[in-house]
Amino acid sequence: MTNQLTVLILAGDVKGQRLITECKREGCRVFVLTRQALQGDPDWPHSDVDEFFYMPSLTKKEEVINAVSYLARTETIDRIVPLDDFDVEIASALREHLRIPGMGETTARNFRDKLAMRMVTSEKGILSPAFVPVLNHEAIHQYVAKVPPPWVLKPRSQAGAAGIRKIHHADELWHQLNQLGDEQSHYVLEQFVPGDIFHVDAITINGEVQFVEVSRYGRPPLDIIQNGGIFMTSIQKRNSLDTLALKDLNKLVLSALHFRRGVTHTEFIKGHADGKFYFLETAARVGGAYIAEVIEQATGLNLWTEWARIEIAGEKLPYKLPERRENYAGIVLCLAKQEWPDLGGYNDPEIVYRVHKKNHAGLIVSSPDTAKVQALLESYSGRFGQDFLTAAPQYERIER
Ligand SMILES: Nc1ncnc2c1ncn2[C@@H]1O[C@H](COP(=O)(O)OP(=O)(O)O)[C@@H](O)[C@H]1O
Ligand SMILES: [Mg+2]
Repeated sequence: MTNQLTVLILAGDVKGQRLITECKREGCRVFVLTRQALQGDPDWPHSDVDEFFYMPSLTKKEEVINAVSYLARTETIDRIVPLDDFDVEIASALREHLRIPGMGETTARNFRDKLAMRMVTSEKGILSPAFVPVLNHEAIHQYVAKVPPPWVLKPRSQAGAAGIRKIHHADELWHQLNQLGDEQSHYVLEQFVPGDIFHVDAITINGEVQFVEVSRYGRPPLDIIQNGGIFMTSIQKRNSLDTLALKDLNKLVLSALHFRRGVTHTEFIKGHADGKFYFLETAARVGGAYIAEVIEQATGLNLWTEWARIEIAGEKLPYKLPERRENYAGIVLCLAKQEWPDLGGYNDPEIVYRVHKKNHAGLIVSSPDTAKVQALLESYSGRFGQDFLTAAPQYERIER
């Protein structure tokens, strides 16, 4: 028992059940620090958690540092693992404060701050939408004179397309910036690049990408949040030129941002006008919207489970990626007008997972044949529109 590791999991949201369960399975003592409001939530894997700790919120760094330091007076904490994007930042601050190994604040900043990730990758020659920090007004004037609209004004540290505004001319921009007041420096301004949005989900061990899948969203996430509709994403053909190019770009991004170990979700835009790939954003966590389930159905490998194993192994213990399949998979998902929509009419043998969530309709399909996956997703997307889709555009609820 003396060598048993104690893992503290930071969970601003109920998610990552598989990670929690894996920590327990590996013999760790599992602590979960979460929000008061999530106490007793039936979705926690209660039997795999040794102890829960609660705070009103996990967003105030000083308060979390004090609370966890207090816990550390009587408990030795060996690992800190964040589940949500917001938890990534606090986890790194805690690691530095308690001198626990794992990703520190400088690297975490690269994965949380959209301005930081833009600047660092641009310095390495990775293409981004033309951007400007919302800091010096003269620099913004020059940017606006040079870079044609539309632009997007986006919070540097949000997720799920929250708070992103599309802007069409300079007057509108200055009006928005005035309205934001002191908040404005927490935004970045960049050119809106129309295109298809891809995501690259990867596992990195000691600086080397060892597992990667490239997928494409059916429609850009921002389009869904603004106009509503059906969310789709699917793994792309593994030997296509796009996939190969994106794998390379993903490696460049992760190495530019000094990523060492763990799971990442990185997004790129393929510009409609020029066919080039633009780096959109990255995060040091498992992607939302059932992406982990899609990848598991295609490959047999669960990103949450592997993340648990990687964190436990740390720099010193060995970690080996499990065997994987090379099937394809994709998801179709929407907010449903019915509380518990009836998907009984959907019964192709390729359906491998049914989303069980109030007011959601969702199916994951898998096949060795990528064309089959695409055809089914297209057809279900049409049928979901008829059978389930609500009018309200609420993508945020899906993504987070
Ligand atoms: N520069 C851009 N050009 C085109 N679309 C963009 C741009 N920036 C953001 N978007 C749209 O907004 C969505 C969310 O932006 P993103 O930077 O990925 O932030 P989030 O962390 O909220 O996902 C993207 O998926 C895309 O649809
Ligand atoms: Mg995004």
